[in-house]
Amino acid sequence: MGGGHVIPLTLAQIAEITGGRLHGDPATVVTGEVVIDSRRAAPGGLFAAVAGERADGHDFASAAVAAGAVAVLATRPVPVPSVLVADIPAALAALAAFVAGALPAVAIAGITGSTGKTTTKDLAAQLTERLGPTIAPAGSLNNEFGHPLTVLRADASTRYLVLELSARGPGHIAYLCRIAPPRYGVVLNVGHAHAGEFGGLDQVAQAKGELVKALPAGGVAILNADDPRVLAMTARTVARVVTFGEAARRATLRAADVRLDDLGRASFTLLTPEGQAPVTLRLHGAHIVPDALAAAALARELGLSLAEIADGLSAAVARSRWRMEVHRRGDGVTVINDAYNANPESVRAALRALGHLAQDGRGFAILGHMAELGAISRASHEDVGEFAARTDLAGLIAVGEEAAPILAGARRVRSWTGEALAVPDGAAALDAVANQLKPGDVVLVKASRAAHLEGVAQTLAEEADR
Ligand SMILES: Nc1ncnc2c1ncn2[C@@H]1O[C@H](COP(=O)(O)OP(=O)(O)OP(=O)(O)O)[C@@H](O)[C@H]1O
Ligand SMILES: [Mg+2]
Repeated sequence: MGGGHVIPLTLAQIAEITGGRLHGDPATVVTGEVVIDSRRAAPGGLFAAVAGERADGHDFASAAVAAGAVAVLATRPVPVPSVLVADIPAALAALAAFVAGALPAVAIAGITGSTGKTTTKDLAAQLTERLGPTIAPAGSLNNEFGHPLTVLRADASTRYLVLELSARGPGHIAYLCRIAPPRYGVVLNVGHAHAGEFGGLDQVAQAKGELVKALPAGGVAILNADDPRVLAMTARTVARVVTFGEAARRATLRAADVRLDDLGRASFTLLTPEGQAPVTLRLHGAHIVPDALAAAALARELGLSLAEIADGLSAAVARSRWRMEVHRRGDGVTVINDAYNANPESVRAALRALGHLAQDGRGFAILGHMAELGAISRASHEDVGEFAARTDLAGLIAVGEEAAPILAGARRVRSWTGEALAVPDGAAALDAVANQLKPGDVVLVKASRAAHLEGVAQTLAEEADR
């Protein structure tokens, strides 16, 4: 993705920036990537030892150095050159803030929202790469570890930092914005992801709005005009506001004539103040359209021409796995692997796409639970089940105990004649559907990350091709 050579820092500098204690040669220079996974330690790099749930990075300090890392950032003594700090995320934040501050020519963009951050980040990066060297996180590195690690990959050749900012509580986004202060802030939507931890949608909006609050007067807030809670963030920023939307007639950037092909890929006319251009997305689902508009709005602010934006969106591919991956098998069965994560909004979006793809066949949904919804969990699962039944599925399979209320919700739709089935795990879900699939059928697999259903989707996708 361009750049990636990092700004060289001596161990003496690292100790000073982090307030840490140096054990080793102060003149040793870190010239490679900063990583928290020792298997990814690269020559010249710095390994940050994190004590996780399953493993303690300190146990891998020597392995990281053997793999080429020149030193380890640690919270307790290790038998290799190190900088000892009190807190690894704080140390990474200090280093990243130093690097961001040393690169004033880099345009920093932050993207937040309840759903679609990674999708939008990947689209936006594929647009800014047309303007210059871009650093963007791989996958969903959007928290107090992934965010600074991404910033630390920037160097003097970097022109754009396209960052994904996540929040599981108030103050999280403000914290990330202090590490690498964005000049451009995109807010996609306010939905139920992690709603349990926040308490409600207004609290979610409060937290996501920390991004626009952090923007400077010369900055740009890019807001979804179709989401009232996002549009209301206009009042919380001193930055110039640019809007995007499908429904909102007054949005700066809009999509008109949205159509879906037989695999659910959207085509639309991109309407901008500079004119209009046709776009045909390669990503699946109508819900990608607002993400594409947000990416377009950001690229437009950075100076990409309308023609390049339309061309870039039409050429952009999915860079992060398990989000609406559509696989048509040799026998005519289609499998949608959307098992990366799930919340009420993204499950509805996937079910809509399933309904579209299954127009000429039968639709099956294998759904695991949606995590972190707190008090609204049961009702949310029931509502999703009701929504699924209304899309007239042939089969609805709920995987695991926590997903069972999905079926209770589906039964509320009395006219629904599909089959509802509760199974304990992914293997049982496979057994239930694999043998009854016929050409033209479409199977959606979706759940929160914790359910690990991507393997089910993978097996289903490969079944007939073996
Ligand atoms: N605008 C949208 N509305 C509804 N669903 C969406 C939208 N954009 C993407 N999705 C779906 O939401 C799921 C997660 O997408 P993505 O990984 O881009 O979101 P995220 O915000 O980065 O999630 P996370 O909080 O896990 O980082 C995928 O199933 C994707 O297809
Ligand atoms: Mg993400």
